Amino acid sequence: MDTRPALHFDDVSFTYDGTTFVLDGITFSINKGSTVGILGGNGSGKSTFAKLCNALLVPDQGCVTVFGRHTEDTTATYDIRSDAGMVFQNPDDQLIASLIENDVAFGPENLGVPTNQLRERVTEALASVGLQGFERTETAALSGGQKQRVAIAGVLAMQPKILILDEASAMLDPQGRRDLLDICRDLHQQGMTIIMITHFMEETLDFDQDIVLDKGSIALSGTPQDVLTQIDRLHELNLEPPFACKLSDALQQRGVPVHLHSTDAGLITDLKKLYTDSAQDALATSANPSMSKEELQ
Ligand SMILES: Nc1ncnc2c1ncn2[C@@H]1O[C@H](COP(=O)(O)OP(=O)(O)O)[C@@H](O)[C@H]1O
Ligand SMILES: [Mg+2]
Repeated sequence: MDTRPALHFDDVSFTYDGTTFVLDGITFSINKGSTVGILGGNGSGKSTFAKLCNALLVPDQGCVTVFGRHTEDTTATYDIRSDAGMVFQNPDDQLIASLIENDVAFGPENLGVPTNQLRERVTEALASVGLQGFERTETAALSGGQKQRVAIAGVLAMQPKILILDEASAMLDPQGRRDLLDICRDLHQQGMTIIMITHFMEETLDFDQDIVLDKGSIALSGTPQDVLTQIDRLHELNLEPPFACKLSDALQQRGVPVHLHSTDAGLITDLKKLYTDSAQDALATSANPSMSKEELQ
């Protein structure tokens, strides 16, 4: 079994102009099959990080490995780019052909996949993003969300092991964003490693790990519950905490005994319990003040 991390950054620094480090001494590992959110304000280094993941950029200091292969090793570039597929923000920048099937086939064709296997790859990739039967549709006729799904299908047709989405939901409407998350969930269940770079903290709530970048360094790292409930710190980092965090924090400050939650479901459970407890207390007092709450249940 391959136990190497899907991605490993070892003390990685990067500068575009030779003087200012836009990533500065970053170290972390992403396990195969995990889901990781990369968060951070504008200019914090997220896109630079993404480009370092698949050898579009190479570090000035330290090293990046993808399944153990160094991105600086040019003989490994082909394998690294096949393993780590990237989806960017604007679907219009990523679609190349006017017909969907040609667009999705473009990547695998360039990788040298034999023609007789291309059709199968295209059909499978389109099915993965819920666009089965769209092979002969013009890309220009699609909505932004559908275009982004075609862009993902184009990456999936190359059968990557890691999918890196660099603010891929930023231009989508709420439904398009939900669809994108559903696709990522399905792909993760099939074993894909998902790295989601996003401004929308809610998108990473059920992920394994969140990493927050600030001025090229890791400011916070941990489970979404650990990271997303650090409200003051998130505000300092120019990030908007999830709705449930803000509401549970506001309730706590008003003396309501709830935990600080990152998810709506967690907060609802707390509120329901509080409501049930207080209803039972009221009932106990009015029915028989001498009965305990346990006796009433
Ligand atoms: N091609 C480039 N040349 C010079 N500086 C760049 C380039 N791309 C990004 N930068 C700078 O690097 C820093 C990090 O940018 P980026 O990785 O795009 O951040 P983010 O994706 O978090 O907004 C910013 O200060 C940005 O201006
Ligand atoms: Mg960016």
